[in-house]
Amino acid sequence: KLSDLRGLKAGTLKIAVVTTSQYFIPHLLGPFCERYPAIDIQLKVANRQQVIDRLSAGMDDFYVFSHLPEAIEMETIEFLPNPLVAIAPQNHPLTAKKRIHLETISDAPFLMREKGSGTRFAIEEFMKEHQIQLNLKMTIESNEAIKHAVMSGLGISILSAHTLAFGGRAGLVELAIKPLPIKTHWYFAWLKGKQLSIIANTFLNYVQSEGKETLLSELRQEQLDV
Ligand code: PGA
Repeated sequence: KLSDLRGLKAGTLKIAVVTTSQYFIPHLLGPFCERYPAIDIQLKVANRQQVIDRLSAGMDDFYVFSHLPEAIEMETIEFLPNPLVAIAPQNHPLTAKKRIHLETISDAPFLMREKGSGTRFAIEEFMKEHQIQLNLKMTIESNEAIKHAVMSGLGISILSAHTLAFGGRAGLVELAIKPLPIKTHWYFAWLKGKQLSIIANTFLNYVQSEGKETLLSELRQEQLDV
């Protein structure tokens, strides 16, 4: 295409990402789209299971996960740390404590993401490993709805620390529970053997170089420990 020859790459890039990465992906896409104005983006945000289903059906160029599906062969690039932290409303008695034992968490009503969520998967694995029984109060299918439910005093929760960045901390306090955070990572992934388009390759190069650097400096300004 003439536009490719001029260095102005044109076409559509399809990305499907798990919900917690919706807090950083747009910050990568902004500068990318400015640089390559002829590239259109289709961004699908869904929970882990739904993103796995799209991957199996080969619907997109790239996927973002923090827990890679085991049964599918993929190429992956480790991208950023995704620490999961405990959150409570500002006036919660535990917010005054400097160090909270993990067992304490079983006393508080807990708000949990739905089945199929990678966040839920990570929390369940972690609690199993530490032999902690959570006091599940409510299942909520959205990080933002969980944050508002926590604010309104319905309970506490564990979410990606990225849900608190870029102005998302209002009304919430991170609890100093040891040994949290749950340490996970995000990965860019695509089906093994899939030939990446020129556009997909352009995005991949960007994500691994200046895209990542720009995002990291923004996140550090947000006091996110990445
Ligand atoms: P999810 O995303 O909880 O929306 O599935 C996060 C993840 O997969 O870790």
